[in-house]
Amino acid sequence: MNGVRLRPTMLSDLDWVVSVETDPANLPFITPWERTQHEGAIRFPDSRHFIVEAQAQGDERLGFVIFQGCRNPNRSVELKRIVLQPKGQGLGRACVRRLKQMAFRDLKVHRFWLDVKSLNQRAQALYASEGFVEEGRLRESVRAGDGYDSLIVMSMLDREYDARVALGLE
Ligand SMILES: CC(C)(COP(=O)(O)OP(=O)(O)OC[C@H]1O[C@@H](n2cnc3c(N)ncnc32)[C@H](O)[C@@H]1OP(=O)(O)O)[C@@H](O)C(=O)NCCC(=O)NCCS
Repeated sequence: MNGVRLRPTMLSDLDWVVSVETDPANLPFITPWERTQHEGAIRFPDSRHFIVEAQAQGDERLGFVIFQGCRNPNRSVELKRIVLQPKGQGLGRACVRRLKQMAFRDLKVHRFWLDVKSLNQRAQALYASEGFVEEGRLRESVRAGDGYDSLIVMSMLDREYDARVALGLE
C-alpha cells in the first residue's frame, strides 16, 4: 500500500486547498468552506488541518484533511474532511489508517467519527472496510441538485481500534 505523511497546512497552502475543494471531481461529495473557515481551522487549537503528501516522493501535495473537536472534553473527534486528488490508487485507505492512528494513539480520543453523503459510495465502502460502524442517518439533511441527500454518521471507538490493532488490521 502507498504510504502517506501529513504535515500541518500553512496559510500559503490555502489557495491550493480551496481549488481542490471546488474541483468538480470533489464538489458533489463535500460542502466547501470559505477560505476564512480554513484559516480558522489552521489557527484554532480545537481543529487540525493537514496536507497529505506521498511518503515515497518529494513534497507534492496529494490532498488535505481536517480534524475538529480536538479540545472536546468528551474525547469525541470528528474527521471533518478528507479530500485526495489521486483517486482509486489506495491512498484513501493509507490516509484513513494514518488518521485513525493519529486519533487513537496521538490524540487519545474515545470516539472518532465522521459523516458521509449517502451518494458517496466510494467513501462509505472505504470507511466500512476500515472498521467504521454506521450509527444512523440524518435524513435529507444536505442539498443535492434539486433535492436533498442524507448524511450517514459513522464512528469507531477506542476499544474497537485496539481490537483491530490486536488482530493486525491496523
Ligand atoms: C473518498 C476518497 C478520500 C477515497 O480515497 P481513494 O484514494 O480514492 O480510495 P482508495 O483508492 O484507497 O479506495 C479505498 C476503497 O474505496 C472503495 N472504492 C474505491 N473506488 C470506489 C468506487 N468508485 N465505488 C465504490 N467503492 C470504491 C473500495 O472499497 C476501495 O478499496 P479496494 O480498492 O481495496 O476495494 C477520495 O476518493 C476522495 O477524496 N474523494 C472525493 C472527496 C470525498 O468524497 N471525500 C470524503 C467525504 S466523506
